This record gives sequence, C-alpha cells and structure tokens, in this order.
Amino acid sequence: MNSHLTEQNDFFVVEGLTKAFHGKPVLKGTTFTIPRGKTTVILGGSGAGKSVLLKHLNGLFTPDAGTVFVDGESLAGKHESELVPIRRKIGILFQNGALFDSMSVAENVAFPLKEQSKLPHSEIASRVSETLEHVGLADAAETMPGDLSGGMRKRAGLARAIITHPEAMLYDEPTAGLDPILATTIAKLITRLKEELSLTSVVVTHHLGLVRTVADQVIFLSEGSVIFQGSVDEFNASRLPILLEYRGADESLAEN
Ligand SMILES: Nc1ncnc2c1ncn2[C@@H]1O[C@H](COP(=O)(O)OP(=O)(O)O)[C@@H](O)[C@H]1O
Ligand SMILES: [Mg+2]
Repeated sequence: MNSHLTEQNDFFVVEGLTKAFHGKPVLKGTTFTIPRGKTTVILGGSGAGKSVLLKHLNGLFTPDAGTVFVDGESLAGKHESELVPIRRKIGILFQNGALFDSMSVAENVAFPLKEQSKLPHSEIASRVSETLEHVGLADAAETMPGDLSGGMRKRAGLARAIITHPEAMLYDEPTAGLDPILATTIAKLITRLKEELSLTSVVVTHHLGLVRTVADQVIFLSEGSVIFQGSVDEFNASRLPILLEYRGADESLAEN
C-alpha cells in the first residue's frame, strides 16, 4: 500500500496501541485507520475497551505502546500544551453529554467558543443560534439542562462539541439510554452533520443498529483487539464466528 496516500486519506491512524490498567491489559496492540469525512462505527461488547480507545484518539489517555496519528501527526511524546491545537480539531460527545447544570443550554454551547476564541459577543451569540438550529434545539436556548429530556441533553452536548468547528467528532455510545425514536433522531443527526460539515466521525457503540443507520466503515473490537475492519457490506457478509454470534444475538433481541 502507498503509505503517503494512507496518510492523506485517513484522519486517524492507530498502530499497535497497547494499554493496561493496574497490570490488566485492555488494548492489546490495536491497529486500524479512520478515513477522513466518513463515519466509522466501532462495535464491541461491554468492557471491550471502546471508551478507552476513544480517549486515546484525542490524547486524553497515553498509550503504553503503539502510536496514534491525528491528521498525519503523531501524538507520541507530545506535552499537554502541544496537544491543545490537535484536540481543537476533535469534538467529543461523552455518554452523559457532560453539561454544566448551572448554565442554560445557550451558555453551555457558547462556553468552548468563549474559552478558545476572542470573538465579540454578537458573533458568539449568532454562532450559538446557528449551532442550536443545526441540532434542532433553537427553541431550547434558555432552558436549563435539568429540564431537558435525554435526547435534548445529547443534542445540547453535540452542539457544544461542534460549535468550534472541529474536523472530527468522537461519539461515545450516542444512543445509549434513548428510546428507539430518539435513537433514530440522533443517528440522522450524526449523518447530517457528517454530510454538511464534512466531519470525520467515530461512533463507539454496542448497538448493531448504528451500523445500519450511520456507518460507512465498521471496526469490531473484541478483548482489546481489532478483529474486523471493513465496509458495511463486508461486515454483513463476514462469516467470522464472533460476528455471526453478535449479529445472531442482535436479531434474537429484535424479535423480543
Ligand atoms: N481510568 C481507568 N482506570 C482503570 N481501569 C479502567 C479505566 N478506564 C477503563 N478501565 C477498564 O478498562 C476496561 C475497558 O473499559 P471501557 O473502555 O470503558 O469498555 P467499553 O468497551 O464498555 O467502553 C474495563 O475493564 C474498565 O474497567
Ligand atoms: Mg464505554
């Protein structure tokens, strides 16, 4: 393969990523690539290491061994101050939305922009309205997080993550705890943002449903190793025993 091409087309490249906590291995030489401008769904069971993996992509965790490249740049040996401009390229939506409960939705969404830029108030206000519009929360600007539904919290968290115009978005279990209708709304939003903002999107989940609704590429993580990386069609056609088992379990769930 032409490594120069790979570098240009892949936003994240992860090579031999190893991570243990208190001597217990979690990631065991994980290797994969995340193409630019596409949505990659990283599937795996509970405890497979998905959240740990995601936190390596923006340098929140440091690998024991192996390398993470972001937009062609290695994170290895980078100090916190050097990670700041790299992290600015990457938005992250944590499982609980991580909103500040004492601030309104609009104040929450404005927060990262105020921290990172010297934009005038009026410009920040118009960026906030535009971003809330994007996630369908224009009417909830003055609402306090405690009064939001689960789906609205997710959307507010998402607005806060994208207001700084990141090039990539990391989503940790974006549909967990949502009913199927809200989960579908979030899935449509992930795809719309990818298309409108050309976002490189990484969606970590144990929900097979997101493969059908948002994925361009699928990665399957099992016990800290990538055992499959390919297109949705390749994933559906795969006869790997563990994938057959996973898909089978999902179908029997759907019947109940
Ligand atoms: N900060 C941490 N300190 C110690 N162990 C951790 C930490 N974060 C995750 N782990 C462990 O790593 C393993 C994988 O966790 P995680 O990535 O959260 O799984 P999941 O695939 O469900 O997201 C679990 O055994 C978890 O207990
Ligand atoms: Mg997790």
